[in-house]
Amino acid sequence: MKKVYVSGAGMTRFGELWKEDLRSLAVEAAKSALESAEIERNAIDAIFVANMGSSSLSGQDHLGSLIASELDINVPAFRIEAACASGGVAINLAKSYMLANNCKNVLVIGVEKMTDVSANDVTKVLARAADEEYEAYFGATFPSLYAMMARAYMSKYGLTKEQLAEVSVKNHFHGTLNEKAQFQKEITVEDVVGAPAVADPLGLLDCSPITDGAAAIVLSVKKSKVQLLSSQVSTGNISLQNRPSFTSIDATVRSADLAFKEAGISRKNIELVELHDCFSIAEIIAYEDLGFAKEGKGFELIENKSAYRDGALPVNTSGGLKSCGHPVGATGIKQVVEIFEQMTGQAGKRQLVNDSKILHLPIMSGVAEVLQLLVFLQMYKKSSAKVWRKYQERYQDKGNATLLTWSTVHAAPSGFEAYTPYIIAIVQFSDKSKATVQLVDCNEADLASGIDCEPVYRKLYSDSSEGIIHYCVKYRPLQKS
Ligand code: COA
Repeated sequence: MKKVYVSGAGMTRFGELWKEDLRSLAVEAAKSALESAEIERNAIDAIFVANMGSSSLSGQDHLGSLIASELDINVPAFRIEAACASGGVAINLAKSYMLANNCKNVLVIGVEKMTDVSANDVTKVLARAADEEYEAYFGATFPSLYAMMARAYMSKYGLTKEQLAEVSVKNHFHGTLNEKAQFQKEITVEDVVGAPAVADPLGLLDCSPITDGAAAIVLSVKKSKVQLLSSQVSTGNISLQNRPSFTSIDATVRSADLAFKEAGISRKNIELVELHDCFSIAEIIAYEDLGFAKEGKGFELIENKSAYRDGALPVNTSGGLKSCGHPVGATGIKQVVEIFEQMTGQAGKRQLVNDSKILHLPIMSGVAEVLQLLVFLQMYKKSSAKVWRKYQERYQDKGNATLLTWSTVHAAPSGFEAYTPYIIAIVQFSDKSKATVQLVDCNEADLASGIDCEPVYRKLYSDSSEGIIHYCVKYRPLQKS
C-alpha cells in the first residue's frame, strides 16, 4: 500500500474572532496549508471539510462545495461531521479516499465559527452531539456529562479537585508559548478551583472554551518528513449511561490499540502527544485509555511533570483544547498541525528539541463521546386526562432507582436557563438499565453514590389556550416516611 504523508499544515488564530466568518477562516487555513506544502491549488485532487455545527451556528450547510468554490478548486469536496472527532475522522476518510482513488494530494480543512450566537445556544448545539432523546432532551450538557465522569472517577480513585486542576494549569502554561492560542496566560490551581461552577465538580477553568478557528493539512503521496503511520476510528455508545464505564472511553481504547498495531510501534516510541482535553478530566482519562498510564494512575503524568513540554512525554504542547481553544471541527486537524510543526522544526517558541524520531499517534479522541439519559415524563392532560408519552414509557413503571453519579448544571442550554442550577444524574433501575434524570428536592451535599431515589411528577407549564398541562417526571432521594 502506498504511504501517505503530511506535506503541509496551517491554521488561523483561535479565539473570539469577530471580524472573521466561517468561510474566511477555512480559506485562510487552507491557503496556509497549501503554502506550507509548496503546491498550487490545482494540484489538489479532493477536499474534506470537518465541521460540526455550521447549520445551527452559521445557518450554512453544503460546506464541501462552499469552501471548494471559495478556494476556486473544482474537485470532489466532502463535509464530515463527527462531533469533536470531526477533524480526526476527516483525516481518516481523506487517507482512505486518496489510496482508493490514486490521488496525489488531498486537502483536509477543519473549521468552526462558534461565537456568533449566545453561549446558551452553543451549549444546546454542542449537546446534540450527545443523545438528544435520552440526554440532551432532559437538560444534560457536555460539561455535565464530563462532570459526571469526573465525579465517578474522583470517587473511584480519590482524585481531588486540586489535582484535576493541574491539567488546566499545565495546558495554560503551554498555551503561553502559542501565539495562535485563545488564552495565552498562566493560571494557578487556586484560579481553577475558585472559578465559577459550570457543572459541578467542573468549573470554568476545567472547560475548553467556545472558539472560532480553522486548521488545514495537505495529505500527499510524495515523501515528506511527516508520515501518517496510522489512522483508526472506533465508535462507542453515544450515551454515557449506556457505556461500560464512566471512567474510561472504550472507543479510545480500541482505536488506540488498532492504531499502534497498524503503525507497528509501541507506546514507548511516542515522544509527543496531542490529545482531547475538552475538560480537565478528559485528559487524565485519555492518558489511561491510550495506554500511557494504568487505570486510576493518569494523574501521575501531571504530578511527576512527565506531561509538561520538558517532561518524558509532552502532552498538548499547543496548549490543548483548554488553552489553545476548541473550534470543534478544527480541533482534530489542529492537533496534526501542532505535531507537523514540531516535527519540522517550525513550532517557534513551542519547539521541542528537534528529534526526527518524534512520532505522532493520530488519536481519534472524542470519537465516542459519552452520555446518557433522563427521566422526563410529559403528560398532556385535556379534559379526559389523556397522557402523551414521548420518551417516558421506558421508565414510568420502573419505580425507584439507585443514584450512580450526578452534576449540578450552572451553564444551561437554551430552553433550560430558567431551571439553573439543576442536578443531572445517572440512575440505575432494578433491571440494571440506566437513565439520565433530573434530581430535585435535595441538597447536593447530601447526595452520595448508591442512595435510593424515587420518581416524582412535576408540573412543567400550562397551555391555557388549549387547557393542556405539561408534566414531567424527575427523581428525588427516597423520602423516609
Ligand atoms: N477557559 C478559560 N477562560 C474562559 C473560558 C474557558 N473555558 N470560557 C470563558 N472564559 C473567559 C472569557 O474569556 C471571559 O474572560 P474576560 O472576562 O477576561 O473577557 C470570561 O471567562 C467569561 O467568559 P464568558 O464568555 O462569559 O463565559 P461563558 O460563561 O459564556 O462560557 C463556558 C464559559 C465554560 C460555559 C463555555 O466556555 C463552555 O461552554 N465551554 C465548554 C464548551 C464545550 O462543551 N465544548 C465541547 C466539548 S466536548
